[in-house]
Amino acid sequence: VSAHGRAFGTPPTHAATAPGRVNLIGDHTDYNGGLALPIALDAHAAVVLGPGAPGRLEVVAADLDERHEGAFEASDIRADSTPAWFRYAAGAVLLGAGELGRDPESVGLGITLASSVPVGSGLSSSAAIEVATLTAIESFFGRTFEPRTKAMLCQRTEHEFARTPSGLLDPLASIMGATDTGVLIRFDSLSCTPVPIPAGVRFAILDSGEGHSNADGRYARIRAACEGAARALGVAMLSESSLREFTKRADSLAPEQRGAAAHVLSENERVRGFVRALGEGRLEQAGQLMNESHRSMSEQLGVSTPGIDRLQAAAAGVAGVLGCRLTGGGFGGFLVAMLDAGTSEAALKQIRQTASDVLGHPASVRLIRPGAGARPIEW
Ligand code: GLA
Repeated sequence: VSAHGRAFGTPPTHAATAPGRVNLIGDHTDYNGGLALPIALDAHAAVVLGPGAPGRLEVVAADLDERHEGAFEASDIRADSTPAWFRYAAGAVLLGAGELGRDPESVGLGITLASSVPVGSGLSSSAAIEVATLTAIESFFGRTFEPRTKAMLCQRTEHEFARTPSGLLDPLASIMGATDTGVLIRFDSLSCTPVPIPAGVRFAILDSGEGHSNADGRYARIRAACEGAARALGVAMLSESSLREFTKRADSLAPEQRGAAAHVLSENERVRGFVRALGEGRLEQAGQLMNESHRSMSEQLGVSTPGIDRLQAAAAGVAGVLGCRLTGGGFGGFLVAMLDAGTSEAALKQIRQTASDVLGHPASVRLIRPGAGARPIEW
């Protein structure tokens, strides 16, 4: 019998899985109408969902051995006392059901979730839970969301229930990701284009050991600087401006806005350059663009830390490492390195050694492979 008092195998139970993501290049561009190239991570959140006790919404975090139960009430779900994982799952349920014009309150819902996406990592552990929950909700109600609608429901969950002003990068990557494929996202139109990852490269992720959170106010401050810069440049979204226009008017921007604009406008160019370089097999050049992206995140946007900068420099200097950068929102979390496939095992060992020296303790580094996007689990 499950945590929700149902015998295993008793229909109807619905399940889904959704990956975290690693952004290869293009950070803090999503809410600026720019470009990004993420891959879906080969680590996932899994959600099992079925009718529960009428009027009640129960979520069991199986991997944490915790549970939380409440009413179908937005104000209860977003209360400070609720665990973050409950807000992601319950918030997504409420918004998803609302979007489909359904009300699961009479049957109640029981949700069990577990995730292998590291929490506080900048690898989108929250989007993985939201996307997996909405994918299970699709199966529960027998209706599917259009992918962009689904991503926006995740974003609203973050805004309304987790109080994090995030963009659409994380859910779109989790929804649209595919094996050995990057997703080029244009955030002005929300178009997603698959970008094959060449066989000549591998990716590794490296834990900086510094915790990352999008909800501690620093992410919101960067976002506000970008919005201020856009206003000063006379555009609705920063990416509608250009490096040329910005250079002409840089003096009229406050220092924080100047850094934000310099980063976002150059980062969009780097994403374009990276996709071209990958497609044409200019892998060294693609790696250089990752290094430059890191420098811009650190020096222009100010979302790196001295410790992360040291790790990046150490990893980028290893033979066989084409490029390395902080990935995601920043202020902590993981770095992503692109390795020459021919020497990736040796490079991985050397990164581990060098990073352990920098950190002063054994570094956590592992090879990853661009994985599949969100999908229902068929019983
Ligand atoms: C976080 C946010 C995303 C995006 C990245 C930075 O992951 O959730 O929307 O802004 O930071 O690229």
